[in-house]
Amino acid sequence: MPKLIAANWKMNKTIKESISFIEEFKKITKNIGNAEIVVCPPFTLLHEIKKLLKNSDIKLGAQNMHFEDAGAYTGEISPLMLKEIGCEYVILGHSERREIFNEDDFLINKKTISALNHGLKPILCIGENLEQRKNAKTEEVIENQLRNCLKNIDKNQIAEITIAYEPVWAISRGDPNHRAATKEDAEEGHQFIRNIVAALYDENTAEKTRIIYGGSMKPENAKELLAMPNIDGGLVGNASLKAESFAEIVRAAK
Ligand code: PGA
Repeated sequence: MPKLIAANWKMNKTIKESISFIEEFKKITKNIGNAEIVVCPPFTLLHEIKKLLKNSDIKLGAQNMHFEDAGAYTGEISPLMLKEIGCEYVILGHSERREIFNEDDFLINKKTISALNHGLKPILCIGENLEQRKNAKTEEVIENQLRNCLKNIDKNQIAEITIAYEPVWAISRGDPNHRAATKEDAEEGHQFIRNIVAALYDENTAEKTRIIYGGSMKPENAKELLAMPNIDGGLVGNASLKAESFAEIVRAAK
């Protein structure tokens, strides 16, 4: 299974900025390896970027969605709209959605089921915050998030889901010098997640589930993180905003 390297641009970039990023990125990532590359820009850029990605292997993802197809939900975007515009992936349950916008596992589960029903591939984010880690609650938090967010999702559907382990304390929040998880800590989290997936489904399913790491992944640490046996890719925030640094991470994913 090729590694998946996804750019999470969060609330960044104008149309003009995104066009110059994609044009440069396409040039420097030609024949760059076999990683699957996904770009997840803000909603306002999806249409423009889809056009630019024509004839390219780079895939498009959104950063969030509502679980309903349509209706009176001011300010929301539906899975139908994301499909129509050409999204293949959608990030769900990001810690910023959980913390700032009060999304809980129950809602994220509904969104995950809805995405799957519409043929969108969820990148399901989980991870403990600093306080939980300090209180030795990491495993409990991750296990609960997984059990809740994967409720009523069967074995065949899980193949479409990528799990992103994003320890909240490792997320850069725009600080390029922020500390990532060590490769050992990240690997431990990934191994634990794989064990839970095996317990919820079976060993074979767990082996095939893609588990990617997010939290201050950058050119300087991508190679060592991506070399760990249970790390199947990366969800990259700050370091995905510049074409050269994101390309460097893609190169590290061989
Ligand atoms: P970061 O963000 O790479 O800037 O730490 C990752 C994320 O929040 O998805």
